[in-house]
Amino acid sequence: MAIERTLSIIKPDAVAKNVIGEIISRFEKAGLQVVAAKMLHLSREQAEGFYAEHKERPFFGDLVGFMTSGPVVVQVLEGEGAIAKNRELMGATNPQEAAAGTIRADFAQSIDANAVHGSDSAASAEREVAYFFGADEICPRG
Ligand code: TYD
Ligand code: MG
Repeated sequence: MAIERTLSIIKPDAVAKNVIGEIISRFEKAGLQVVAAKMLHLSREQAEGFYAEHKERPFFGDLVGFMTSGPVVVQVLEGEGAIAKNRELMGATNPQEAAAGTIRADFAQSIDANAVHGSDSAASAEREVAYFFGADEICPRG
């Protein structure tokens, strides 16, 4: 399988719960490497632009409100099949439907406050990584 990069966000609810380390540890244990990371408090404009694909959805306003409610940790994860692997570690969007042992099953309380974001395809990974990181901010391991 190819080495890929994907964008991960630890959302405000998980940062508030103080489980940044536990979540990153799951990525590392699954063989994904953090090759870029920063903590940000997103502006409304940043959150709206990031989630532009959901602009017409009924939950868009609440989603932007939630994503700007506190700091987030944005990371680029690298590894074999990183995009699908991260989605697998995250679990389903609705934590009530997320498989046991996934990040959302263990740390999320609701579909709108669901602990993590992960790119869902190669195209979105490329867009989302570039949305938050310049090439000079990504530090691949030797
Ligand atoms: P989506 O891209 O469908 O899910 P995922 O994060 O698993 O890729 O939706 C983006 C976010 O929008 C989702 O993480 C939480 C929020 N959301 C809601 O609040 N209500 C909903 O019904 C859906 C589908 C998403
Ligand atoms: Mg999505």
